[in-house]
Amino acid sequence: MLKGLIFDLDGVLADTARLHLAAWGSVAQDLGITLPAAAGDALRGRSREESLTIVLSYGPPQDYAPAERAAFAATKNDRYRQAIAHLTPKDLLPGIPRLLAQAKASGLTMAIASASKNAPAILERLSIAADFTGVVDPATLHRGKPDPEIFVKAQALLGLAAREVVSFEDASAGVAAIKAAGQFAVGIGDAAVLHQADLVVPSTAALDLAAIRTAFGKSVS
Ligand code: BG6
Ligand code: MG
Repeated sequence: MLKGLIFDLDGVLADTARLHLAAWGSVAQDLGITLPAAAGDALRGRSREESLTIVLSYGPPQDYAPAERAAFAATKNDRYRQAIAHLTPKDLLPGIPRLLAQAKASGLTMAIASASKNAPAILERLSIAADFTGVVDPATLHRGKPDPEIFVKAQALLGLAAREVVSFEDASAGVAAIKAAGQFAVGIGDAAVLHQADLVVPSTAALDLAAIRTAFGKSVS
């Protein structure tokens, strides 16, 4: 029986995946690196440190000292934080206010499984922090997505079993993490990229709790 929902944040609840990408794009530009189109999915769901490694991999091989790497990551975060400072509840993605309302009305408990250390600040800006029983602290993680650790921790925060939750992701690494945790995965985006998901919708506007329940019911029966 469905008892809980677990959400990635960036690109699922709010349109912040493009702000992460833009901030990395500007750091890359400072370094003379142009991000290819594939960087969009490659960077989604990856920790700040891993993202930096991916960004640098698009440039010529170069050995940066740890202090230089830390400075690049800090610059990216400063630029990203400037961008998210302007977020308001209007920046919830289409369909998300309705889905959260449907979930609350039907007594589902909810958690956040985001790799972002900025997630708590964003939830506050979007005025939805109180909707979530648990927010996994990414600082406690040993391994990032596609490892299942973050989704297993979110499920534990809710006190539920894998077969009692549905998890939402916009990243292929995130969908892989959900499936490795043994949970039902709803992918939001390109079905070819998110092919591991149990259900894929093209955008958050198409999210509907009744349809998700139907697909989930078929998967556990
Ligand atoms: C994820 C994003 O949610 O958080 C990634 O999809 C980002 O793009 C990661 O790198 C870490 O975010 P932050 O805010 O801690 O740098
Ligand atoms: Mg995401």
